[in-house]
Amino acid sequence: MDVRSKFLDFFQKKGHQVYASMPLVPDDSSLLFTNAGMVQFKDIFTGKIPSPQTPRATSAQLCIRAGGKHNDLENVGFTRRHHTLFEMLGNFSFGDYFKEQAIAYAWEFVTEVLGFDKAVLYVTIHESDDEAFEIWSKHINPDRIKRMGDKDNFWQMGDTGPCGPCSEIFVDQGESFDTEEDYFGGDGDRFLEIWNLVFMQYERHSDGTLTPLPKPSIDTGMGLERVCALLENKRSNFDSSLFMPLIKEVELITQKTYVYEQGASFRVIADHARAIAFLLAQGVNFDKEGRGYVLRRILRRAVRHGYLLGLNEPFLYKVVKKVCDEMGGFYTYLVEKKDFIQEQCKNEEIRFFETIEQGINLFKKELERLKQTKQNIFDGVIAFKLYDTFGFPLDLTQDMLKEENLLLDIQGFELCMQKQRELAKASWKGSGDIALDVDFKDILQRFKENTFVGYDTHQTTSTILALFDSSFKEVETLQETGFVLLDKTPFYAEGGGAIGDKGFIFENDKKIANILDTKKYFNLNISQIQPLQPLHTHQNIIACSDISLQTEVAKHHSATHLLQAILKEKLGDQISQAGSLVEANRLRFDFNFHRALSHQELQDIQDAINALIAKGIPAQIETLSLQEAKNKGALALFGEKYGDFVRVVTFGDSSCELCGGIHVKNTAFIGNFIITKESGVSSGVRRIEAVCGLSAYNFTKNIITQLNDAKSLVKNNDIQLGIHKLKEKIKELENQLTHQQKDLDLQIQTIGDTTLIIQEANNLDLKRIIDEQKNRYNKIAILLIDSQKLQIVAGCKNVSLKANLWVKSVAQILGGNGGGREDFATAGGKESSQIPNALKEARDFALKNL
Ligand code: ALA
Repeated sequence: MDVRSKFLDFFQKKGHQVYASMPLVPDDSSLLFTNAGMVQFKDIFTGKIPSPQTPRATSAQLCIRAGGKHNDLENVGFTRRHHTLFEMLGNFSFGDYFKEQAIAYAWEFVTEVLGFDKAVLYVTIHESDDEAFEIWSKHINPDRIKRMGDKDNFWQMGDTGPCGPCSEIFVDQGESFDTEEDYFGGDGDRFLEIWNLVFMQYERHSDGTLTPLPKPSIDTGMGLERVCALLENKRSNFDSSLFMPLIKEVELITQKTYVYEQGASFRVIADHARAIAFLLAQGVNFDKEGRGYVLRRILRRAVRHGYLLGLNEPFLYKVVKKVCDEMGGFYTYLVEKKDFIQEQCKNEEIRFFETIEQGINLFKKELERLKQTKQNIFDGVIAFKLYDTFGFPLDLTQDMLKEENLLLDIQGFELCMQKQRELAKASWKGSGDIALDVDFKDILQRFKENTFVGYDTHQTTSTILALFDSSFKEVETLQETGFVLLDKTPFYAEGGGAIGDKGFIFENDKKIANILDTKKYFNLNISQIQPLQPLHTHQNIIACSDISLQTEVAKHHSATHLLQAILKEKLGDQISQAGSLVEANRLRFDFNFHRALSHQELQDIQDAINALIAKGIPAQIETLSLQEAKNKGALALFGEKYGDFVRVVTFGDSSCELCGGIHVKNTAFIGNFIITKESGVSSGVRRIEAVCGLSAYNFTKNIITQLNDAKSLVKNNDIQLGIHKLKEKIKELENQLTHQQKDLDLQIQTIGDTTLIIQEANNLDLKRIIDEQKNRYNKIAILLIDSQKLQIVAGCKNVSLKANLWVKSVAQILGGNGGGREDFATAGGKESSQIPNALKEARDFALKNL
């Protein structure tokens, strides 16, 4: 039985509009993948977009439940029913029918269309849902209705979004499925859930609260694969006709026979091949993070199971091809992209096969050690090495450990990850990667904190506490570019969007080093240093920041605060910072906002900020407790961790923000503020770029230079007047051209009341001539041929002759082709020698068809 079309047809007949499966990657950053049929309708449920004219919908939606809130990856292969990719059949009501009708439809479909015996059906409802109980009692014996708690019978899309109590329909597969929890409501295999009816009533928000939806709605989901297996009387989805061809393919490749009991690896490969085929076909690529990383995890899990079956070279791409063949009838894009999908899959397999053996050997070695020492916790450092060096995703290692009944030292793994992240942050551009074995904890313990004095001064006497070479190895003497830790430092470490300081090191009056950059690392300000002579630890020096650079950064930083304040004032308090970059010559500020700003809005924002600059508002910088700062209304960054005491930067009544940056002492020092660009960064995020201080001056200077150049180009000191004159001149030339066209001697023939014009006309605006003649005559057919450009243009009005057919027949004589509308058409030709014949054909064709 073709369950998919039976389902869609059934609901279409009940007044539902059929929708295609939406992409697996939803336009919603809160979801990793489309994980239910309702995802494409979620904004309709919440009322963000109005209900469609037909408030009933139905679909067969491809879903992925790997990663994210609904994650089945680790179960796949080891149960009869779990999949990474599956199809969900659903019917939806947007404030139209509710529980009564949804239940009636479901019952009719299950019993009458699918033909399930009522004697094998059971349902669950939410424990509080008396209404559902009443309705179900009309269809099914009440002792087959079980009330369950939130865990089983409350459904939500993700951490946020539409949700509600639900009711599930189960099929009793009989006593032969006697597993441990062999009763209705237990976790055993015997009672199999086939359909979930969600009574959508709420929206969950990011703070966890629920608000009612504008209208109670219906969302249902039925797993296609399990229903097919049941109808085919198969004990597992993998035994059904949907998966067997794939499993057979694995048998063929491995030359091994599939038996259910030892068949987990076959099932993993069959399942994962489907997810890989669809994800690649829909444009997801293998990646180090996000969705692409989930795809990589799925592939590597499948490859490892191939390895377990004795395969040592790429094989999965063959199973993926089989998926395309099997499912390409309905999902035609799988066929179109088959070659690409196979190639991508094979390349990724090759990458993993390069390291899998070494990784598995390392894994086995540690396993051996654990056995000998009778321990059951796998070393986190080794799990990290498997991840980092051999490309084993953490969940793959965990999977392998599950098979051995071992636990993982997850903290050890996390610690390595953390260390690696810190290292990545600390690696300066161009400095080469920092060696992996730096003991930063030791450095941290020995030096605790170095003092940053840059808020008050740009120059200080100081002592070199430690020196590091370019690979961050601690050294006594440094002769080449490396890193320095000072006891007191005037150099601001990159932070709060602002770049780190550059500067100089002096000994007495002699410059002995340049500071190239400064960053914070384990709470220490460390600068990248270029010695001009050998430097030593314990050396006393004078450190001096590059004031001109720091001052310009400060101007852009303070201007960023003013910008945020004015954006809130003009666009509403809901806008929030999404990213910020502050450099010496520009600033970039990203914020959450749903649309582009108009020219006028940008102008107003710019004016308002320049007004604050002109006012000369002094900066007030103070250290307050976090609570005091909040009371003062200081803006904090969402998601940022703050200490108990915070630095608060205030400009009068205009702006108040938590910030560790260096700022101007008075807004007047910003000079002026010019917006250079407004653009969209991603959905819902806008970006403003601007310049202040010296850069604003340079920006203006450039514009003045361009204006001066323009003056000489238009040969007029008044540019507008100059452009105006040029435009006049263009108009004049255009008029002259029109006159020339009028001068074209038209050879007009009249046939009955129809005007017929057919002639050569070179180097003129043919369309314009045709338009003019069409305006002049009521019934006209006109065809002009430019024998130089080999162009044919024709126009017809109120005649039976059709311009598109006309030009086509003429173009054929010229060895060309063309077309267009019945009243206007153009064509091109190739053979100029045929012009006389073409003109003849034009006339013959016209006379035949007029
Ligand atoms: N959205 C519901 C589910 O996925 C129907 O179970």
